[in-house]
Amino acid sequence: MKKKVTVKTYQEFKNEGRKITMLTAYDYSMAKLVIDAGVDSILIGDSLAMTMQGHDSTLPVTVDDIIYHTKMIVQANANANTHALIVSDMPFLSYHVSVEDTIRNAGRIVKEGGAEAVKLEGGCSIIDQVKAIIDAQIPVMGHLGLTPQSVNAFGGFKVQGRDEENAKRILDDALALQDAGVFSIVLEGIPETLAKEISERLFIPTIGIGAGRYCDGQVLVLQDMLGMYNDFVPKFVKQYADLNSIITSAVKNYIHEVQSGDFPSEEYTYK
Ligand code: KIV
Repeated sequence: MKKKVTVKTYQEFKNEGRKITMLTAYDYSMAKLVIDAGVDSILIGDSLAMTMQGHDSTLPVTVDDIIYHTKMIVQANANANTHALIVSDMPFLSYHVSVEDTIRNAGRIVKEGGAEAVKLEGGCSIIDQVKAIIDAQIPVMGHLGLTPQSVNAFGGFKVQGRDEENAKRILDDALALQDAGVFSIVLEGIPETLAKEISERLFIPTIGIGAGRYCDGQVLVLQDMLGMYNDFVPKFVKQYADLNSIITSAVKNYIHEVQSGDFPSEEYTYK
């Protein structure tokens, strides 16, 4: 059996040059499949606003939503054959009001939801909150670059760090987060060269999404990589399956068989 992945294992993986795998999941049955397949870590991402709730941004997600979904993943992790690291997103505005409010919200996600770490978007501007959460003994994952909670400030989901000033700010934010004690940083939607430089400068692991080949690990939204969520498919998404077609065809088949009387046949009937 694969040993439990922890924040310490993350660091060991980087030290050994072994790539880290992370996928999002939001419900028990999908999470159990993903964990049993051997993924290192699960992110209960605020992308659930889009994939589970049908919104067009991550902004509407609440702390209660994250706790609700985290509980299901924790249950899946307990019943799976291998045990992934469970990281939950802190939603928009759950760490912006005050340090006290931030600790309370991070604490709820760990205490009520069962997450083993929380992820926050931003660098120097949220460093006091990051330090306070770490002081409360909760491991923190950073998130820089195209941070989706800033969609309105960015004027859309746009690749970040293309100009020198912006690239320097992202690098400075990464170094500040590392100094503050985060165990890892997600780099999203930035040029590969910048992600490479950051990954080489940091001793902690970077996890890329739309950040090219040189990060220490990769994360994707599960529904994206399974071809289940086609509302918008970004360039960086590789669809490893076409569940959209598989599910549609299975459901059409079911409708047809119920209507024709072929289902349920004797095989599926109690005597
Ligand atoms: O919410 C999410 O799924 C994320 C990943 C895209 C990194 O933050």
